[in-house]
Amino acid sequence: MKSHPFQLSSMAEYRAACQSADENPASFWAEVADSFQWIQPWESVVESDFEAAHFAWFKGAKLNITINALDRHARIQPQALALAWEPNDPNEQGRRFSYAELLQHVERTAGMLRRLGIKKGDTVGIYLPMVPELVFSVLACARIGAIHSVVFGGFSAQALASRLNDASCRLLITADEALRGAKKIALKNIADEALLASPSVERVLVFARTGAKVSMKPGRDLDWAESWSHANNPALGHAETMDAEDPLFILYTSGSTGKPKGVVHTTAGYMVWTAYTFVNVFQYKPGELHFCTADIGWITGHSYIVYGPLLAGASTLMFEGLPNWPDSNRWWQLIEKYKANIFYTAPTALRSLMADNKEGPMEFAMNSLRVLGSVGEPINAEAWHWFKDKVGKGRCALTDTWWQTETGGIMIAALAGMGSELPTYAGLPLPGIVPVLMDANGNRQPAGEAEGNLCLEKPWPGMARTVYGDHERLRQTYFSIHPGYYFTGDGCLRSKEGMYRITGRVDDVLNVSGHRLGTAELENAINAHSCVSESAVVGYPHSIKGQGICAFVVADFGNRPVFERNKEVLDLVGKIIGPIARPDLLVFVPGLPKTRSGKIMRRILRKIAEEQSDSMGDISTLLEPDLVPILQTAFLNEKKGGD
Ligand code: PRX
Repeated sequence: MKSHPFQLSSMAEYRAACQSADENPASFWAEVADSFQWIQPWESVVESDFEAAHFAWFKGAKLNITINALDRHARIQPQALALAWEPNDPNEQGRRFSYAELLQHVERTAGMLRRLGIKKGDTVGIYLPMVPELVFSVLACARIGAIHSVVFGGFSAQALASRLNDASCRLLITADEALRGAKKIALKNIADEALLASPSVERVLVFARTGAKVSMKPGRDLDWAESWSHANNPALGHAETMDAEDPLFILYTSGSTGKPKGVVHTTAGYMVWTAYTFVNVFQYKPGELHFCTADIGWITGHSYIVYGPLLAGASTLMFEGLPNWPDSNRWWQLIEKYKANIFYTAPTALRSLMADNKEGPMEFAMNSLRVLGSVGEPINAEAWHWFKDKVGKGRCALTDTWWQTETGGIMIAALAGMGSELPTYAGLPLPGIVPVLMDANGNRQPAGEAEGNLCLEKPWPGMARTVYGDHERLRQTYFSIHPGYYFTGDGCLRSKEGMYRITGRVDDVLNVSGHRLGTAELENAINAHSCVSESAVVGYPHSIKGQGICAFVVADFGNRPVFERNKEVLDLVGKIIGPIARPDLLVFVPGLPKTRSGKIMRRILRKIAEEQSDSMGDISTLLEPDLVPILQTAFLNEKKGGD
């Protein structure tokens, strides 16, 4: 049975959908959109101008996404489980919310925000651990038309401040502490430090996660529970009427240059895209529970913990803790405890669990599992098979899903259980998505087997509409490199059968444990140390993280000990960006390879870090070719020492 009118349940239906999305996108997407609840219908389905990077979907329509994610289901299936929450500590009680209850909580949170004077169009920063209040906050913003900007709880005070400033957030929602395994993170202290440099923030709402004593600034800081107790006027929880193209949220992501970009998604297109992809890629069946292990601080959590599953009327599980605490069976226990049907995770975590237990979780039958999903980075064949055979016991469909913060939702993936599964290949494009591969000279590769830079030829409802406050940056980054196309930044192979395999970034962006980090951002952080004169960061193959961060650093620390020098640089990167950005290898070198015009030859550093010196190519244009063997030795020594 189809869970939604737009669910595709065979390859024949998939092919027919691709054809009709291609031939007549307006009527195809209008039909999909028809199954949502609109306050006012659209005047045009799609407007698209690749040159100006202007796109609009369902223009003229009015709606509120939370009516579609909550009210609609609360009316039809009020008692159905909407959100289950599992705490960090297995001995602590979890929390469960039916659709009726989740709606009430979101309405009340919306009332709290309104009482604080937050209104449509305002921006709200959210810096919370993975607790239900994070979901309430996100949806409450959407309910009142405020733009949420969630900042991952692992980012530092400086990174938080730069995001709060860039988005001119009026309110910050945070917590006293976050729990991560055995560790406590002093979130409010970090937020306080960030707030010293975030003048736009007028009020701070503090959720007591652990009850730790934290400083509260009078007139600025408010306790969540206290505000909650005052927000008992149901009229304040109503849903604001939004335009289809009103911004829904901002989410920062790293690029190859400059500071992270505030990617903006808008209301109607994002709604249609996340629901359509959730229902189709995972082949969601009514009553199923979806367990996505991402953090809501990243796009995967936005689209496939919060919006996609709730728009589809599914039960979504959010987990506060770590896969390996108190031991590495935690996820398997949760799958059994909640009878999860869909399990969506990242290759890094699988590789690390696999390293601990090659045989897989044999003592967990996990009979409820039907679909496995992978996201965030290329999945190597070994991890793919371990996932399929040991976690899925060979009986679950496995879908490797390729997409990006900018795409809003899944773009290339197998529809679970349909068509062929090819390890390491993400599979086929969703209907309406037209991938094109470009060679190094920008020539479009003919159909069939090919390799090149992955571009997209047609607009899709979930595409990012702008970079907050800097539309030109969106145009330049994505629409100017291959005019007439959206450029993804990824390299890609296409098989004879038309299946796509993503090979990794072709720009200066690293993918470390599925987290996106710009090399320029990392270098700026390293260069902020007064003893460092310059640095260059490249990725190198890492058996667990996919890519490790290797920084070649030119510095003068005098005769200070190595451990001290390393610690200072690593701590500084942790302070400026966050612990996820700490380089895995610091290679101190006498100089960087440069062309005669002074440009750093990253290609050479990449080859050294990938230990592929044989294919280094021409180094005769280097200012100091003699540096190369010195850098090679320094890298290998450092790597040996680090292993
Ligand atoms: O390089 C691709 C990689 O992650 C990048 C997008 O990162 P982010 O915006 O943080 O979003 C991650 C979650 C959607 C892409 O440009 N990537 C994502 N999914 C895959 C992938 N690489 C290979 N296979 C995937 N399934």
